Amino acid sequence: QAMVVLWALALALAAGLASAYPPNIVLIFADDLGYGDLGSYGHPTSTTPNLDQLATAGLRFTDFYVPVSLCTPSRAALLTGRLPVRSGLYPGVLEPGSRGGLPLEEVTLAEILAAQGYLTGMAGKWHLGVGPEGVFLPPHQGFHRFLGIPYSHDQGPCQNLTCFPPATPCHGICDQGLVPVPLLANLSVEAQPPWLPGLEARYVAFAHDLMVDARRQGRPFFLYYASHHTHYPQFSGQNFAGHSGRGPFGDALMELDSAVGALMTAVGDLGLLKDTLVIFTADNGPETMRMSRGGCSGPLRCGKGTTFEGGVREPALAFWPGHITPGVTHELASSLDLLPTLAALAGAPLPNVTLDGFDLSPLLLGKGKSPRQTMFFYPTFPDEIRGVFAVRSGKYKAHFFTQGSAHSDTTADPACHASSPLTAHEPPLLFDLSEDPGENYNLLGSGAEVAPQALEAMKQLQLLKAQFDASMTFSPSQMARGEDPALQMCCQPSCSPWPTCCHCPGPLR
Ligand SMILES: *[C@@H]1O[C@H](CO)[C@@H](O)[C@H](O)[C@H]1NC(C)=O
Ligand SMILES: *[C@@H]1O[C@H](CO)[C@@H](O)[C@H](O)[C@H]1NC(C)=O
Ligand SMILES: *[C@@H]1O[C@H](CO)[C@@H](O)[C@H](O)[C@H]1NC(C)=O
Repeated sequence: QAMVVLWALALALAAGLASAYPPNIVLIFADDLGYGDLGSYGHPTSTTPNLDQLATAGLRFTDFYVPVSLCTPSRAALLTGRLPVRSGLYPGVLEPGSRGGLPLEEVTLAEILAAQGYLTGMAGKWHLGVGPEGVFLPPHQGFHRFLGIPYSHDQGPCQNLTCFPPATPCHGICDQGLVPVPLLANLSVEAQPPWLPGLEARYVAFAHDLMVDARRQGRPFFLYYASHHTHYPQFSGQNFAGHSGRGPFGDALMELDSAVGALMTAVGDLGLLKDTLVIFTADNGPETMRMSRGGCSGPLRCGKGTTFEGGVREPALAFWPGHITPGVTHELASSLDLLPTLAALAGAPLPNVTLDGFDLSPLLLGKGKSPRQTMFFYPTFPDEIRGVFAVRSGKYKAHFFTQGSAHSDTTADPACHASSPLTAHEPPLLFDLSEDPGENYNLLGSGAEVAPQALEAMKQLQLLKAQFDASMTFSPSQMARGEDPALQMCCQPSCSPWPTCCHCPGPLR
């Protein structure tokens, strides 16, 4: 399966051109993708040549975390630099008819960059709320342009959406009794439902237009590209179905990788490779309840929905030729850090709010280490009494509470499964992630001889948790505002029979 990554050739041609400040930014966010899913992170059968090229020619992170292993809270953290309990995006995820969403007073990365003159656009999965009249949608959150689905593509009936019959059979039925998922162009429904395998081409064209228009207007661009592909039900277009060597999940990932290649080609064709910072990561670990369709956390324990490493540690790549030296970093970093980092690179002031992220630009530019020393992990259903479930400091991680999740069902380890109840650990489970990234060997376990360093680490982590929990105030939950079926977006408002009448196939197929 040799594949030539053509955009990389353009890089050689771009060498030597002076680069402008501030950089264009392409932020690619994958969905339910695990630490072990990319070829560059060791997957034996994935076909990800474009992402592997970003890894080779950029900085590859081994210790990059999201704070919560679920779509909505992880996306809130990415775009605000704040833990989702501060913005109210808990517990669980937003539904198509949710009244709540990302509060408009939260300052998003797009708002910060737009204020610096960037042309901002988002393609793909939002999942930070719709609300009455679409008040929470991207055009109200700093994005000049939006083309995408406002939530997960399984939050609506999905029969007939993922297939090319008869060659590729349809997979899954998804959530019934809801409106079909809409494809939005800014605030209007363009297709309902869109044919999913046609989406990537639309998104790439949207991204290309954004880049061209920004260039013509003499301004930098910010593209937030939030792919649906690797989330259940995984789908892929004709050129990918059956081609990856890794079944339907691999085919979906291969099409995502190909979209990354198309984005890089667009950047290269505009001569902007050295002026464009590309970041790739994902919202949470694999959803192993989907079995071989569910992604892979590699050597890490469990996946989506848990605070084990497989849920929260993600592949992450940063590529910016001439600025970021190719290599691998073991420094601690998080999706929470992207807002302060990108603000610094864009020369933008930080919002006057409590941020949970750090400026990683010295690390990216080879001028220093990561300022991040600790990482705090909330469960998907957090509460102020229990506080954070797990804390990492340096190479040590302590679990004060653990709980399995249905999202992490079917793996060999029963601790991951929904049947594994909420359990308090006193003393905590303590792991040395440098020697034991798979969290297999509790340093404080019965029978183990407890080393003095382990006791010291335990005390430090207990103190960090106590201080952190004491300093945290949750914002009121947006999910607690409940749902109103009338808020589900419909291409033919107040039609009947609801919700199946919301059916306006678009031009895609
Ligand atoms: C959204 O609105 C912007 C600004 O009016 C426009 O340029 C763009 O074409 C619209 N549609 C999409 C899909 O972005
Ligand atoms: C799927 O397609 C079949 C055949 O065209 C049709 O009968 C069925 O109603 C479709 N299902 C949905 C949920 O759209
Ligand atoms: C920042 O916010 C605090 C609290 O809301 C306020 O007291 C302070 O004046 C603000 N600072 C600036 C520079 O706006």
